[in-house]
Amino acid sequence: MQMGQLKRSLAATLTGATQVLCVAGMLLLGTLPAQAQQSVADSLAQYRQMLADDNPAELSEAKGAALWKTARGPRHVSLEQCDLGAGPGVVKGAYVVLPRYFTDTDRVQDLESRLVTCMTTLQGFTVAEASKSPFAASSDMQALVAYVAGQSRGLKMAAGATHPKELHAIAIGKSIFNYRAGTHDFACATCHGESGKRIRLQELPNLRERADAQATYGTWPGYRVSQGEVRSMQHRLWDCFRQQRFPEIQYNSEAMISLMAYLANNAQGGVYNAPSIKR
Ligand code: HEC
Repeated sequence: MQMGQLKRSLAATLTGATQVLCVAGMLLLGTLPAQAQQSVADSLAQYRQMLADDNPAELSEAKGAALWKTARGPRHVSLEQCDLGAGPGVVKGAYVVLPRYFTDTDRVQDLESRLVTCMTTLQGFTVAEASKSPFAASSDMQALVAYVAGQSRGLKMAAGATHPKELHAIAIGKSIFNYRAGTHDFACATCHGESGKRIRLQELPNLRERADAQATYGTWPGYRVSQGEVRSMQHRLWDCFRQQRFPEIQYNSEAMISLMAYLANNAQGGVYNAPSIKR
């Protein structure tokens, strides 16, 4: 089936539905002929393959590496003494053990919130300055994330899951994942709680299931072709909150980090492979 036909058949499936029914209808696109679904999935896979040898995220990684070493902020120091969990200055393997509990801040932190900690304690930025416009075009924060994340490629994911605050975060994240609300009465679980669901042409990972969680969590940050930017896990979740018609989730908030802790916990043991390429 050609793309045009496919679109028309999708349109026919959805015509006349209210917005709510419309999205419900999208979730039922199992009604598309299996062959058509397969050919769409195949072309998306081919497209990724074509770009994989030349991922623009590498430019962000290089920019992030330079930023890491550059003296910045009121104190004019670099981030080279930043402790991401494995000790001051250790970047290799840092991403795969996040989020985790940090004694100095007495909270569970992911990479972005930890970078903000380092930018404030080492470089002298205020929290507001350090967390300003993290999702802006060519953002420094996303470049730093790409750099640090890239230093964990090929390592096993092992986010913190022993400290009571880590366990608490995972539990909160799980309840956020299952919490239905908003104009559409959606939860993350509505779209990501069962295998084999799709919206339009996109397969939806079942984030409760280990293999899908590993393949998903382990491939962020990614260069999003549709946006022309490297995007972190936080950005992805922020975007899904929006898609879910929920109020905006705050950057580096406890809710955000708990949701990440839950997803990272479901992805334990998977091999990390990012920055990747995403749609
Ligand atoms: C209305 C359905 C819907 C809801 C609700 C929803 N998502 Fe998504 N989610 C999507 C779609 C569609 C994509 C794929 C988007 C794309 O590729 O552009 C996606 C992508 C993702 C991804 C990245 C998948 C990948 O392949 O890398 C993650 C992680 C994710 N969502 C998590 C969540 C979380 C957590 C929630 C709850 C806050 C949530 N989503 C709520 C539809 C939804």
